[in-house]
Amino acid sequence: MAERVATATAGSPTRALAGRTFPARYRVATRRAETPDVVTLDLEPLDDPIPPPRPGQFVMLYPFGTGEAAISVSGLGDGGTLQHTIRAVGATTRALCALGRGAVVGVRGPFGSDWGVGSPDLDGLDVVVVAGGLGIAPLRPAVHALLGRPRSGRLSVLVGARSPADLCFADELGRWRRRADLHVAVTVDAAAPGWDGSVGLVTDLLAAAPFDPRRTVALVCGPEVMMRLAARGLEAAGVAPERIRCSLERNMHCAVVRCGHCQLGPLFVCADGPVLPWATVAPLLAVREL
Ligand SMILES: Cc1cc2nc3c(=O)[nH]c(=O)nc-3n(C[C@H](O)[C@H](O)[C@H](O)COP(=O)(O)OP(=O)(O)OC[C@H]3O[C@@H](n4cnc5c(N)ncnc54)[C@H](O)[C@@H]3O)c2cc1C
Ligand code: FES
Repeated sequence: MAERVATATAGSPTRALAGRTFPARYRVATRRAETPDVVTLDLEPLDDPIPPPRPGQFVMLYPFGTGEAAISVSGLGDGGTLQHTIRAVGATTRALCALGRGAVVGVRGPFGSDWGVGSPDLDGLDVVVVAGGLGIAPLRPAVHALLGRPRSGRLSVLVGARSPADLCFADELGRWRRRADLHVAVTVDAAAPGWDGSVGLVTDLLAAAPFDPRRTVALVCGPEVMMRLAARGLEAAGVAPERIRCSLERNMHCAVVRCGHCQLGPLFVCADGPVLPWATVAPLLAVREL
């Protein structure tokens, strides 16, 4: 069942249509360890599946008896299968990461805004994807969608991680690197034995990325400090702030504009976001403790 969430706040983008608002049961079909503290779960529906999420949207995952957590969709499989990539940071995410094959979880959603990669607005534009750490999770389905549609613009994927061991989807990044239609660059904060790649900030990778700033859309996700640096770097290169799309993280509870946990000034990140233009979020993030 889908319902439209409360009327849009003045000055905010159009709010998304909220997905299923009570949990559907999904079963863990596959569990893969990405890094020592990050796991990817493939979830297959036991009930009617939730409406198909768009790249950038999130769901509320409910390991029964623990609590709910907002988790992005990191991939979509056949038959309504959802992929989620989760870092264990507290009780709920630890419970999710500990789920084994066959375990059952509740899923509400999908919620929020998306990257807009299905829009014809992107035709002919270059796209620069900038991911820090687990920020690659919500960006991965956007890259899949962009690779699957005819576009004349160039596509760059820039990825940063703390260390080589913290890189998620390392095999897939390797496959992407071998493609001729994609520029991929990866960097780490701290190298390790055997790492012969770049060391430094993900924003350092912008200089070698092939894009025309006047005709570019950027998709950015990662820790807030990294997103600020990336957005400023893109702006300095000449990309319009309206064309820099950032995915924000705020504490979520209801995900349907009822509780106010996710409020950021006039915005409710669960419905107006998580993906918002840098032009909208920059003034709000500049206000301390908003
Ligand atoms: C739109 C959205 C998409 C997200 N996608 C993913 C994802 O794909 N994978 C993933 O692992 N996590 C994702 N998160 C973060 C995830 O929701 C939190 O890590 C989770 O709710 C923490 O719950 P917990 O009970 O495990 O830990 P808690 O005990 O609630 O928190 C542990 C620590 O994390 C901090 N924290 C909790 N929630 C957030 C948050 N939303 N932002 C910043 N800090 C927080 C707390 O302050 C505390 O320090 C997303 C969050 C949002 C808002
Ligand atoms: S989580 Fe956004 S209002 Fe409740």
